[in-house]
Amino acid sequence: MKILVVGGGGREHALAWRLARDPERPEIVCAPGNAGTSSVGRNVAVDAADVPGLVALARAERPDLVVVGPEAPLCAGLTDALAADGFAVFGPTRDGARLEGSKIFCKDVLRAAGVPTAAAERFTDAAAAKAYVRAQGGAVVVKADGLAAGKGVTVCATAAEAEAAIDESLVKGVFGDAGREVLVEECLVGEEVSILGLVDGERVVLLASAQDHKRIFDGDRGPNTGGMGAYSPAPVIADSDLPAIREQVFERTLAELRRRGVTYRGVLYAGLMMTAAGPKVLEFNCRFGDPETQAILPRWAGSVSRALLACAQGRLDASMVSWHPGACVCVVLAAGGYPGAYAKGKVIDGLDAAGALPEVAVFHAGTAAKDGRVVTAGGRVLGVTALGADIRGAVARVYEAVDRIRFEGMQCRRDIAARALKRL
Ligand code: AMP
Ligand code: GLY
Repeated sequence: MKILVVGGGGREHALAWRLARDPERPEIVCAPGNAGTSSVGRNVAVDAADVPGLVALARAERPDLVVVGPEAPLCAGLTDALAADGFAVFGPTRDGARLEGSKIFCKDVLRAAGVPTAAAERFTDAAAAKAYVRAQGGAVVVKADGLAAGKGVTVCATAAEAEAAIDESLVKGVFGDAGREVLVEECLVGEEVSILGLVDGERVVLLASAQDHKRIFDGDRGPNTGGMGAYSPAPVIADSDLPAIREQVFERTLAELRRRGVTYRGVLYAGLMMTAAGPKVLEFNCRFGDPETQAILPRWAGSVSRALLACAQGRLDASMVSWHPGACVCVVLAAGGYPGAYAKGKVIDGLDAAGALPEVAVFHAGTAAKDGRVVTAGGRVLGVTALGADIRGAVARVYEAVDRIRFEGMQCRRDIAARALKRL
């Protein structure tokens, strides 16, 4: 079996690493991959956003399955293009990917489906949007409609902040076409959790829960990032909550998509806020989360390639997904200055020493190979990951591994999984 993994971040290294460990021992090809994926497969220098280049690569490589990591190629129609050539693709077509690609489309589907979510209104006119903010009393969330590299959402404590966010998007045009329309949303309060479901067009199988840490500094302070760490399972959700989430969030959304003629295959990722009134959907992503994947996949027992192929072919079965007991924690090591400007090309030491610890995997995100060394090449550089008998054990082990790694300017949070520890 040959699998083409599209993307080159920590999520894709975790996918490639875990797929390579399946009993089928699949051959892994990554496009473009990174310095980590080259140790579990073969990297090919085709960019993840280059749809024609990826179709040409698939024609040359003839993979049995294509697993698409990032949202951009899904929203650009990579799955549609590959499926037209007969390839089995894990990842939704362009129409399904709109759940992530358009926050207005997503909200429309959620409402029509009767899924619990924040109240919201859409605007193209800044004055009308500001009048709505004032009527709401100030604390709102302003969201650019389209993909804005993770920067299109502003959680505003005051009307002045909201008005500034509205101007950025609708007047100054800082998000370009992605920000020509905004959603002004009720601000929800609670703890966030990520629930990912495998979807084969009909059936949904939920994966183990996870929690991300979006702020750069300990205690959830400082600016938002792509994610500074994650752990699984997330005890804020009890197993007994999952059937209701499956029905009220996943089944209802997929039924509404079917009514609209959309067949969804791949991961549907629900970002949920656990409010006093129950779980509400903050967002959908049309792909695996990063860094949630790094904390979820090491816990997956059985063949991941078999399950993902079954998804792509519309024959998923709940028996294909099971979990190792215990917990997994991923700590992201970031470049100094991230999420602002940061340097690249810093030599990374201690990768082998960290990876030699039992039950530890060091996933590469922004790395490159240079003169026989591994150097930094992005904002999020590594995702150091450890399994443990429980969260406490996984946390102790992951920080032992983190402390073996060094590069100039390295920063990481020291409180990953603190919420879970507090619940113990
Ligand atoms: P999104 O890009 O939609 O995932 O939003 C990014 C982050 O903004 C989420 O992970 C939340 O932390 C926050 N957020 C989004 N929508 C809301 C909301 N309605 N209330 C409170 N926080 C939100
Ligand atoms: N961890 C958040 C995301 O993947 O969007």
